[in-house]
Amino acid sequence: MSINIRCATIDDLLNMQHCNLQCLPENYQMKYYLYHALSWPQVSYVAEDEKGSIVGYVLAKMEEDCEDNPHGHITSLAVKRSHRRLGIAQKLMNQASRAMVECFGAKYVSLHVRKSNRAALNLYTSSLQFELSEVEPKYYADGEDAYAMKRDLSNFYMEKNAPKEKTNKDGNTHIHLADAMIVHGQIRLSTLHH
Ligand SMILES: CC(C)(COP(=O)(O)OP(=O)(O)OC[C@H]1O[C@@H](n2cnc3c(N)ncnc32)[C@H](O)[C@@H]1OP(=O)(O)O)[C@@H](O)C(=O)NCCC(=O)NCCS
Repeated sequence: MSINIRCATIDDLLNMQHCNLQCLPENYQMKYYLYHALSWPQVSYVAEDEKGSIVGYVLAKMEEDCEDNPHGHITSLAVKRSHRRLGIAQKLMNQASRAMVECFGAKYVSLHVRKSNRAALNLYTSSLQFELSEVEPKYYADGEDAYAMKRDLSNFYMEKNAPKEKTNKDGNTHIHLADAMIVHGQIRLSTLHH
């Protein structure tokens, strides 16, 4: 199985919305996807399979009210059931975070997650070093509380200032999970096993 992770384009938005509808109760009108893609085209990413079908996405934006402390926000993240536990969400989140740093000088990234969402909480705390910033009571439409979480992005600054890794002739970065090769911009996960 080969998975390609790349920056989302306007053409991906319908498929991102479709994936969102399959995976999450928090859904958005197309104009909200468009708002993200037109305002911050650099920071949302998709994962596609060999046939080019979208199997996961991260919809992200920059917060507009804080010029002295720029930070990003994850609006939505999902990976289709058929493609979970392959490291795709982790890669999508890291790509979005890196782009926030490189394109907008983000200092941290924030998000909300349901208190009961064990998979996402595990991903954010164990794999991505998010920390709890506050509990927002009844944040969700059904009355469930949210954890507001933040991830400090200083590590990406160190990476930004380090010598660049080699990019492919397409100008993108590729990852091979099997031999742990990582590059920027685009990631390819190959030889994945369920
Ligand atoms: C949460 C979600 C995005 C994770 O996607 P994923 O691609 O399967 O996640 P990854 O493979 O990158 O997982 C990385 C780590 O997160 C944690 N994790 C992911 N899924 C988990 C699960 N079901 N149970 C426990 N931990 C889990 C693990 O620590 C995992 O590392 P490991 O596989 O080495 O143990 C996916 O389950 C999903 O789409 N869920 C529905 C939508 C959703 O809840 N989105 C988040 C809203 S805030």
